Amino acid sequence: MRTAEVKRRFLDHFAARGHTVVPSAPLPAEDPNLLFVNAGMVPFKPYLLGQVAPPYPRAASVQKCVRTLDIDEVGKTTRHGTFFQMNGNFSFGDYFKEEAIRFAWDLVTASVADGGYGLDADRIWATVYRDDDEAHGLWRDVVGLPSERIIRRGMADNYWSMGVPGPCGPCSELFYDRGPDFGRAGGPEADEDRYMEFWNLVFMQYERGPGTGKADFPILGELPARNIDTGMGLERMAALLQGVDNLYEIDETRPILDRAAELTGKKYGARSGRAASESHPDDVRLRVVADHVRTALMLIGDGVTPANEGRGYVLRRILRRAVRAMRLLGFEDPALPELLPVARDTMSPSYPEVAADFERIASYAYGEEDAFRSTLRQGSTLLDQALGDAPERRLPAATAFRLHDTYGFPIDLTVEIAAERGVAVDVDGFRSLMAEQRRRAKADAQAKKSGHADTGLFRAVLDESGPTEWLAYETLDTESTVQAIFRDGVPVTSAADGDLVTVVLDRTPFYAESGGQDSDAGRLAAAGASAEVLDVQRPVKGLITHLVRVTGGEIPLGASVRAHVDPEWRLGARQAHSGTHVVHAALRQVLGPAALQSGSYNRPGHLRLDFAWRGGLSPAIRSEVEEAANVAIRRDLPVDVRYMALAQAREIGALALFGETYDETVRVVEIGGAWSRELCGGTHVDRSAQIGSIALTSEQSVGAGQRRVEAVTGIESFRYLARERDLVARLAEQVGAPRDELPDRITALLERVKTAEREARRLRDERTAGEARRLADAADDVGGVAYVAASTGDDPRALAQRVRDAVPAGRAAVVAVLGAKSLVVAANGAARARGLGAAGLLRGVGRGGGGDDLAQGPATGGDALDALRALVAERAG
Ligand code: ALA
Repeated sequence: MRTAEVKRRFLDHFAARGHTVVPSAPLPAEDPNLLFVNAGMVPFKPYLLGQVAPPYPRAASVQKCVRTLDIDEVGKTTRHGTFFQMNGNFSFGDYFKEEAIRFAWDLVTASVADGGYGLDADRIWATVYRDDDEAHGLWRDVVGLPSERIIRRGMADNYWSMGVPGPCGPCSELFYDRGPDFGRAGGPEADEDRYMEFWNLVFMQYERGPGTGKADFPILGELPARNIDTGMGLERMAALLQGVDNLYEIDETRPILDRAAELTGKKYGARSGRAASESHPDDVRLRVVADHVRTALMLIGDGVTPANEGRGYVLRRILRRAVRAMRLLGFEDPALPELLPVARDTMSPSYPEVAADFERIASYAYGEEDAFRSTLRQGSTLLDQALGDAPERRLPAATAFRLHDTYGFPIDLTVEIAAERGVAVDVDGFRSLMAEQRRRAKADAQAKKSGHADTGLFRAVLDESGPTEWLAYETLDTESTVQAIFRDGVPVTSAADGDLVTVVLDRTPFYAESGGQDSDAGRLAAAGASAEVLDVQRPVKGLITHLVRVTGGEIPLGASVRAHVDPEWRLGARQAHSGTHVVHAALRQVLGPAALQSGSYNRPGHLRLDFAWRGGLSPAIRSEVEEAANVAIRRDLPVDVRYMALAQAREIGALALFGETYDETVRVVEIGGAWSRELCGGTHVDRSAQIGSIALTSEQSVGAGQRRVEAVTGIESFRYLARERDLVARLAEQVGAPRDELPDRITALLERVKTAEREARRLRDERTAGEARRLADAADDVGGVAYVAASTGDDPRALAQRVRDAVPAGRAAVVAVLGAKSLVVAANGAARARGLGAAGLLRGVGRGGGGDDLAQGPATGGDALDALRALVAERAG
C-alpha cells in the first residue's frame, strides 16, 4: 500500500467517526518553544491547554514533522528519520480512552478490502502506563487482546509530554511483531526492532512544569478537560504494509536512495547484516542521503532557507550532511540536481505544492550545495595550512572548532584529511567546545522562552476584555478606553510622565507591525496627559499592544484616550508598502516568475525586499526593473482590496509568503488586477500613482540563492534623486566639464594620472640606477673587496641590490646601505665565495639576519657602517 494511500485511509477512517480533517500546519512552528513542529498535536496545543476554545470537538490530521535531536542516529537505526509524518486523531474534552482504543484497533485490524490496514490481530501488542488499570482493562475486555500481550511500563516509556512544560499524560503504545527474522521473541521489552512501535495513544489530562528527562518534572495540575492525542508514524505503518525493513525503504524515500546508489555505483544492502545495527557504513550513508534530501525538500517547501542560525541552520546542516554523505560514497559532482527532483516526484502525490514550487525550492538547495562546495575548497586550504603548522603532529581542538564553526567544515572531514597527513585531531577537545556552544545555545533558548510568559499575560487580557477592535483600515483616529497597562511585563494601574509602558486599548486605529510593514507612529491623548506611540504589536491573535512613552500627565487604567495615527507617517507607510508590491511585480515581470519574494520590510519612504535569485543583477537589469516599477506608477493602476476564500485566492494566483499560516478567508491586494496580486494585510494607496516614484538604491546578495533590493519611495525617492543630482553637479564643477561629458572626462583624468605615475616611477628608477652606478664606481677597495657604504631616504633594499649588481660580476662586492629604519647588507657571489655572506656580516656586527645574498637589521646605532668595514677587512684578509 502506497504511503499516500495509508494517509488517505487514516483520514477517511476518522472523518467517518465525526472528526474534522485539518490540513498539516507548515513545519516552522508558531510555538516559541520549538523550531519545528515535532508532533501532530503541536498545532492543537492551545486547544489542549484550554487557552483557546476548540472550533471542533474532534480532529484528525497528517502532520509534517521534523526532529533533529537524533540526527546522528539517522540511517544507523531503523527508527530515526529527520522528516516524518504523524497521523493523529484528537479529542478536545470529547471522547476518551475507550473510543481512542477502539478507533485505533478498528483501523489497523480491519481488512484492506474494508478500508483498513489489515494487520494480523494476533501479532499486535500493547503497552500501558504502570497503574493505568483502566487502559489495561479496555485492551483486554473491549478489543479482546490477551493479557500476556498487554505490558505495563513505567514513566520513561509510557508517559508522554513534549519534553517542555505543557500538556501531558499516560499513554498506551501499539507494537507489531515483525517475526523472528527481526529479533528475539518476548514482546517490546525484549526487542524493539522485532516489535515495531507504530501508534502512541496519549490520554492527555495533566499540565507539566519544567524538568529534565522523560520522568523528572512536576505535574502542575489537571487540564481543563480530558483530551486524546494520538500519533501514528505514517512511515512506520507504510514500512509494515509495504513489507520493507525501515522508513528509508518505503515508496517515498527508496527512489532517492536508489538514485544515490546508482550515482555512486554502490549496491544497497549487499554488505550489511540483517539488523540495522550491522549495517555497512555505505548503507548508512545512502539512508542519510535519502532521509536528508527529502527533509530539505519539505523544509524549503515550507519557507525555510539556509542560514547560520535557528531553522535555517538546521536546514543548512541537513543539506550539507547529504552532500557530504555523497562525497564519502565517492560522488564529487553536484549531487542535489540529481537527487532533489527524485524527492519531488515521490512527495508530490501527497504534497503537490512541492512540484508547483520546485523551481524556487531547487534554487535554494542547489545554491547551498554550491556554497558548501566552495567552503570545502576554502576549508581544505585552511586545513592544509593548519596541518603544516600543527605542533607535534596534533591539530588543536580550537582549530578544528574554528573550521567547523566559522567555515562550516565538518569535523569528520577534518579528521579524515588530517589522518591522511599523519596528524591526529584533538577530537575530545573539539567535542567539549561543541558542548560548551550547545550550552550557550540552550541558555539563549531559555531566555527566548521567557517571552512565552508574556503571551500568557496577554491571553489573560484577551480572555477578560475580548479582542481589540481594530480600525486601521477605516480611520486614523478613535476614542478609546485603556484596558490594561504593563510596565516591564507587570500589570500596573497607571502610567506617569516619562514612563515606558505597554498599553492595551479597547479599539485602535494603529497598524501593528506585520507582513513586513512597520507599525504606525502617532500619539495617545487623554485629559491632561499624552503619550507617544513607539511600537505596535499583535502578541496574540486578536490583541493589539502599544508601546508608549508618556510625555506629560498621567494615564490611569480605564482612562478615555484619543488614539491618533500620524497621517504623514501613514501616507508614507502606504506608499512604501504598495511600492514593495510594485517592485516585486516588476522583478517578476523582468526576471520571470521564479523571482519570488521571501521576505520584506517597509516603513515610510523605504523598502527592502528579499527574493530568490542566483547571481547579481546587472546595472541594465536593475534599470529595467526600476523602469517597470515606475511605468506601473505612471499608469496609475487601481489598487483593490478583496476578501475571499483561501482556495479561491490560490486559484487566481495570489502570491502568498511561504511558511505563513493563513485564515480560511484571506485579504487579497491587487494592483492593476492580475499584474500584482498578493495575500496581504497591509495598508495601501488607492492608486499606484500615489506612490510618487520608486528609486532602487541597492542590490546585493543575502545568502545562497537570495538577493535583496532596497528602494526609496514617495518624497524620499525625490530626495534621493536630488542628492544624486547634486553630487553629479559638484563633480562636474570640480573637473570642469559639462555633466554629459563627465564619464569621458573622468576616464581621461584617470588615464593621465596613470601615465604620470608611470613616468614618475621610471624617473625614480633612473635616478636610483644612476646613483647605484656612481656608488659602485666609487667603491672602496677593502682587502680586495669592493666595499660600498651609503645611506638613503628611499628604499635601502632596492639600492643595496642595485649597487651590488652594478659591480662587475667577477669582483667581490659587499654593499651596506642605511635607510631610515633598517640597515641592509648585500653581498655578490664572488664575495660569498670568499666567506663574506650578508647575514654572517650583519650578525658579526650584532644586527638581525637574513640570507647570504641580502640581509637586513635595525638601523639604530651609529657606528654599524664602520664596524662593518672593519669586519670586511678582517674577513677578507
Ligand atoms: N503526541 C504523541 C507523540 O508524539 C502522540 O507520540
